[in-house]
Amino acid sequence: MHTSIDVFAKVRDHDRAALLAAARETEVLPYFHVLTSAAMPVVEMEGAERIMLGSNNYLGLTGDERVVKGAADALHRFGTGLTGSRLLNGTIPLHLELEREIAEWMGTEEALVFSTGHQANVGTLGTLLGPADTVIVDSADHASILDGCLLSRAKLRPFRHNRLDKLEKALDRAAGDSGGVLVVVDGVFSMEGDVAPLPEIADLCARFGARLMVDEAHALGVLGARGAGTCELLGVEDQVDLRMATFSKSLASCGGVIAGPAEVIEFLRLSSRPFIFTASAVPAAVGATLAAVRICRSAEGRELFARVLDNASYLHAGLSQLGFRVVKPTRLSDGSEIVTPVVPIVIGDDWKAAFLWKALYEAGVFVNTAIHPAVPPAGALLRTSVMATHDRQTLDQSIEIFAAVKRSFETEHGPLPPPE
Ligand SMILES: Cc1ncc(COP(=O)(O)O)c(C=O)c1O
Repeated sequence: MHTSIDVFAKVRDHDRAALLAAARETEVLPYFHVLTSAAMPVVEMEGAERIMLGSNNYLGLTGDERVVKGAADALHRFGTGLTGSRLLNGTIPLHLELEREIAEWMGTEEALVFSTGHQANVGTLGTLLGPADTVIVDSADHASILDGCLLSRAKLRPFRHNRLDKLEKALDRAAGDSGGVLVVVDGVFSMEGDVAPLPEIADLCARFGARLMVDEAHALGVLGARGAGTCELLGVEDQVDLRMATFSKSLASCGGVIAGPAEVIEFLRLSSRPFIFTASAVPAAVGATLAAVRICRSAEGRELFARVLDNASYLHAGLSQLGFRVVKPTRLSDGSEIVTPVVPIVIGDDWKAAFLWKALYEAGVFVNTAIHPAVPPAGALLRTSVMATHDRQTLDQSIEIFAAVKRSFETEHGPLPPPE
């Protein structure tokens, strides 16, 4: 019998097709614009210079000569690719050095390097958890965490973003689920740049006997005196069981890592399918990451961490003064605030976000546009982010552009959300 449904039908009729077609027609699609220069504070895109406020190159190390040399040396010594899995022919001394240095930096027994951050999450969660277990996630956790949970077929119990009362309820319910329980949160949430209340989360996990994993993608090489991430900054390194990070942000490369107890890392090394059944990262990516880790761990690292956060505060103040609703830094119970390199502007409406993105782009500033499902429905953001290497003149120039664009945008499209 011939099937009546074509699996390709959904590529024509999916719920975003009309929206995408309309955005293309009006030329406001904020995605897939082509970069024709290196990822620096000012880039060339589609024939013009744009101030880059839409990158995760937080320390600005992608063009650093030591990092470039790390990549070039690895390329010349080990060639363009390793053409095989870490398990078989794809492990080089640079992987072992990198794993040892990251474990030392993060203060864990061991670390395991994956080819991407996405694979580090999927390969950890999809292997460590099984159908009998329960995994509790923050609703704003990164998609790769959710993908790992889905792969594992563990019982998924999401809780409302950063709501400790909901987490407690989920932990209480999970106690009756009969399997092991793992809580997974982002240390710094990727879209809003806010920080998880890790001390309280760790206390709750301890009270209920659950394990805790923290994704430090946006925090490694940024937060804490050593730059070891949110767990270091908030003093909970000893209470967190597993810490994941990527190399595609502060570390100016591509790849991912899971750091934690030796027995868990050994288990993943031998059983994680997204680790075993994929090719090892190209040597240049590993060499660049190792060079960037060494810069972070030197005295210069502290200067870079301070500079990127200072730039974030500067941009935050400048945009707030213009009357944008900028997501506030996370406030701790002692009244102090945690600034991160992510400085998001709340827009709300998807179309307004797209039109404002386009006006900024034409005026010479590139930012990222986050709409549902990256953020909750009607919660569109223009996600700006800074580098340690943005100088004040460039940031001032971008703030002037925001001011001019906001004025003309509001005249044409009505008011944007005011500061809270
Ligand atoms: C919080 C978080 N976790 C994991 C990842 C995946 O990392 P990668 O891009 O290195 O695969 C990202 C990347 O955007 C992220 O923001």
